[in-house]
Amino acid sequence: MAQLALLGAGFIARFYADSIQSLRSKDRICTVYARRAESAEKLVRDYGVPRYSTSIEDVVNDPEADAVIIALPNHLHEAAVEACVRAKKAVLCTKPLGRNAAEALRMLRAVENAGIFHGYLEDLLYTPKTRKAISDVASGALGKILWTRSREAHPGPHSDWFWDKETAGGGAIIDLACHCIEIGRGYIGKDIRPLEVMCWADTLVKPIDAEDNAIGLVRFENGAVSQFEVSWTFRGGLDLRDEVMGSAGTVWINNFLRTGFEMYSSGEGNTYVAEKAESNEGWLFPVGDEVHELGYRHMFTDMFDSMERGTEPGETFYDGYIVNAVMDAAYQSVRSKKWEPVVLDVWRGKTSVEKDNLFRDYDEHHYLIKEELTHYGTVKVILKNKLTGDIVEQEKPADDR
Ligand SMILES: NC(=O)c1ccc[n+]([C@@H]2O[C@H](COP(=O)([O-])OP(=O)(O)OC[C@H]3O[C@@H](n4cnc5c(N)ncnc54)[C@H](O)[C@@H]3O)[C@@H](O)[C@H]2O)c1
Repeated sequence: MAQLALLGAGFIARFYADSIQSLRSKDRICTVYARRAESAEKLVRDYGVPRYSTSIEDVVNDPEADAVIIALPNHLHEAAVEACVRAKKAVLCTKPLGRNAAEALRMLRAVENAGIFHGYLEDLLYTPKTRKAISDVASGALGKILWTRSREAHPGPHSDWFWDKETAGGGAIIDLACHCIEIGRGYIGKDIRPLEVMCWADTLVKPIDAEDNAIGLVRFENGAVSQFEVSWTFRGGLDLRDEVMGSAGTVWINNFLRTGFEMYSSGEGNTYVAEKAESNEGWLFPVGDEVHELGYRHMFTDMFDSMERGTEPGETFYDGYIVNAVMDAAYQSVRSKKWEPVVLDVWRGKTSVEKDNLFRDYDEHHYLIKEELTHYGTVKVILKNKLTGDIVEQEKPADDR
């Protein structure tokens, strides 16, 4: 059982509270910080939290709290981590870890130097579908992962500070691509170094300084590529989709807008449908249990189990730092319109990784390029001669196969 100090009483803090105190969980939030007493009081009432304060320092130093959860705007993450380091308290920080890699690296070094437990609250690596897909990838079901595509698009965030480039550290990339980049790493292998990024971003709709749309490609040392697509101007809800292409298989995941639950409503009852749903009238796509589908339950279970065991959780500040470094390269590429290197002062994964040789032998003299059963009863093979390099095709009746 964990006793938790919660910094923040806004949107994500309430999702975290829903997850931590749900079902028969014995974990409890014992104190909460908010900028305004009214928001703290509301959270305290709704979740039966014993106390609150409008001082971060007081909440972090609450003697009953085993760990601190940071659910504050991006520009306050570093100061909150520093407070946890001073108090020598375990710390779990929401995404993005920093507004840039320099901030994230300072946070990583601070928690490691202090020897405190640290977790990076990247929920989308913990969705039930993603967990299953990643374990299938690990067992080899998809062969070598060549390509991933992760998309998070919605009509824009819910608080003023997100829209301010300085406070948030950027726009749709810093807010959403952090999820997509970590999902790509999850499939390609967190020990495979991200080398460089090519990114397009633009401000297409909103009157803001930051980007409201972006698409990026991250190239990894083993030749794999992960694509992220993010938007704050997508209409129609929260589009959370991932695709994984391996040499031996494929995964398509739709985490949110299509979960197999469809409903029609005339709009009576004023129902809450799901996060960022734009309408509660007509054909709707609700989500059965958002907290579960978005990965929060598995995420906190991993965090608290790891804290109790004294082991590292699946996502740490190190992961948050790598993600920030990839986003820095993305922003640099937007400016230069070129591939930009991912600058990593700390890298703990593999080094000098080469592309796997995925060539398949057909016989002693040929590689197999392609084999296909035709609609007219033959099998065609395309072969490459290993010595001459010539590419030839052969066709034979399907029965001879
Ligand atoms: N899926 C996810 O993991 C996810 C989803 C949403 C938000 N987040 C992250 O959670 C953090 C908080 O986002 P949110 O959506 O809960 O924000 P929010 O605006 O809903 O809540 C912010 C909270 O911070 C407190 N606060 C203290 N100082 C503040 C200041 N100067 N300006 C504004 N608020 C201040 C407020 O009292 C409030 O309780 C961000 O880092 C965001 O990226 C993560």
